[in-house]
Amino acid sequence: PVAVDIIRAKRDGGVLSDAQIDWVVDAYTHGVVAEEQMAALAMAIFLRGMVPSEIFRWTGAMIASGSRLSLSVGRPTVDKHSTGGVGDKITLPLAPLVAACGAAVPQLSGRGLGHTGGTLDKLESIPGWRAALSLDEITAQLSSVGAVVCAATEGLAPADKKLYALRDVTSTVESIPLIASSIMSKKIAEGASGLVLDVKAGSGAFMKTVADARTLASTLVSIGSAHGVPTTALITDMNVPLGRAVGNAVEVAEAVSVLQGGGPADVVSLTVALAREMLSLAGLSSVDPAAVLASGEAYETWSRMITAQGGDPSAPLPTPAHVHVVPAPASGVLSSLDAYAVGVAAWRLGAGRARKEDPVQAAAGVLCLAKPGDAVSAGEPLLELHTDTPDAVPGALAALAAAFTVSDTAPAVGPIVLETIR
Ligand code: URA
Repeated sequence: PVAVDIIRAKRDGGVLSDAQIDWVVDAYTHGVVAEEQMAALAMAIFLRGMVPSEIFRWTGAMIASGSRLSLSVGRPTVDKHSTGGVGDKITLPLAPLVAACGAAVPQLSGRGLGHTGGTLDKLESIPGWRAALSLDEITAQLSSVGAVVCAATEGLAPADKKLYALRDVTSTVESIPLIASSIMSKKIAEGASGLVLDVKAGSGAFMKTVADARTLASTLVSIGSAHGVPTTALITDMNVPLGRAVGNAVEVAEAVSVLQGGGPADVVSLTVALAREMLSLAGLSSVDPAAVLASGEAYETWSRMITAQGGDPSAPLPTPAHVHVVPAPASGVLSSLDAYAVGVAAWRLGAGRARKEDPVQAAAGVLCLAKPGDAVSAGEPLLELHTDTPDAVPGALAALAAAFTVSDTAPAVGPIVLETIR
């Protein structure tokens, strides 16, 4: 095969053969296909799409660009992936909860870029906690504790690593075939025997509409099944931030309160709903995750998981140098709180990064003191903006200019899980 022929075939709306896909992904990984050629091919895929058999093969080729872990840890392995949202700290309570229920959760995670936070950035606000583990450490911790949340090891889907960076700078990220193959190549390579996907829909998500989220979710589920990894997707609402905390340390604190039996109702209900799906894939559907959460066992597993990675689960979390309070402009009911605006505000306060190599502030973020449906009185604190760099406050306030409304009537607050796709 020749790169130009493959680019031309896709540019003209053709279907790539298995041999063409295998070759181009491998040749790109090894630098034989040039960046500009892959950029052209990514744009052709973006514009022309791929049929299911191409998406399946493309995912397989990206998995084959590196190693596929085989985790044998004495319990069924099952993982969760979220397409990213605002205040989405669900992995933090979920991984120890599912482990406490008897499965093993290998959660290889990423860092945040843009307005959605990264799980590793959040956990790094815990003093001493370490994201980088060797494969031996991952396996040992999965056997002993049952849950690992750590950075992806080097050799997983290197083709995706290269291609994702290229897509980021060529405006070819928002393509369902490319997103789906990117997510699934990493998750399948990680070696879990079952996978639950939390596909977010709404202002704070990649997919703004439920229809787009449904298309992505079905594509992800078919790739998983076709590769022998039973996969279930929940489509969940991301128009309002999840929980009350958006940022790094503030999200860890909220996750801990969930593990200790408290926490916001939406976080608890989504954690339990995802746990049920994971346990069902792991053959443990007789275990009730709500009861295990209430028993305190999930919190004990959390403490062991953090300690195993060098963290001190009882150490105080970092606090911000500066807190700016946004008061309610009127009395009434909070009728909307826009996830995207709150995500951008938290990001500007220092919780996220503008470039991959930037550091994040552990203590930065936004606390939502009221959620839609709550009664508020004029002048009462509505949002707390946390930052170490007070210069960032005006930018965060600008992002929040149209973020919420207070009105006389209570909004319809719908369920968090919108659909399940198996
Ligand atoms: N997350 C990924 O891992 N890949 C994408 O392409 C988009 C989101």
